[in-house]
Amino acid sequence: MTGVVVAIDGPAGSGKSSVSRAAARELGYGYQDTGAAYRAFAWYCLEHGVDLADASAVTAAFDGFEYGIGTDPDDYYVRVGVREVTAEIREPRISAAVSAVAGNREVRALLVELFRRVIAEDPRPGIVVEGRDITTVVAPDAAVRILLTADEAVRIARRAGELTDADKHTAQQLVDRDRRDARMVDFMSAADGVTTLDSTALDFEQTVRAVVDLVRGATA
Ligand code: DC
Repeated sequence: MTGVVVAIDGPAGSGKSSVSRAAARELGYGYQDTGAAYRAFAWYCLEHGVDLADASAVTAAFDGFEYGIGTDPDDYYVRVGVREVTAEIREPRISAAVSAVAGNREVRALLVELFRRVIAEDPRPGIVVEGRDITTVVAPDAAVRILLTADEAVRIARRAGELTDADKHTAQQLVDRDRRDARMVDFMSAADGVTTLDSTALDFEQTVRAVVDLVRGATA
């Protein structure tokens, strides 16, 4: 059964993962982090020595990719086969590699199918799905579609705050990654019918509240 779909897109460091998860928790909905699948597949390719510069090798590797994600916002995990990779896929080596995978059109098409399956199979009354192309490609018919933005300086500061050891390259990496990713999908401007939520001047709770209010308004 497909319940209410809440599609949230935005650039790196916009806070969309934590905001989406908290909103899902408050709404009693499922939560799907689609960036995790791109990261997990990049992890899988590195693990198997697949040359990320070789697009056909990357596409072929998808055949062996067994992906598992927890959609309960209170029990979030990412697995590849039997291996839990939840923490490992956040490592800088994966962040540096993931754009090569996300830039592969065939891989994108396969992952879009996978995301739609996860949405269809979720047992809860709704699901919050976040990424870069959810409002436009994965779930353009979603009941609620949000582009979550924040000024670049704020996004860099938020992302830097998430890192355990101060990484001087973080700011530039974030900007570089957004630039690479933006070549594939435009997640910096809202498509028709998509609500832009600018979180620059909002704290975490206020942003979650704004998302929950949009969902309640659309589903009342
Ligand atoms: O949101 P994130 O940083 O975990 O995303 C990881 C990478 O995956 C990022 O480089 C962009 C890409 N991505 C994408 O192209 N489309 C999505 N729907 C989600 C993520």
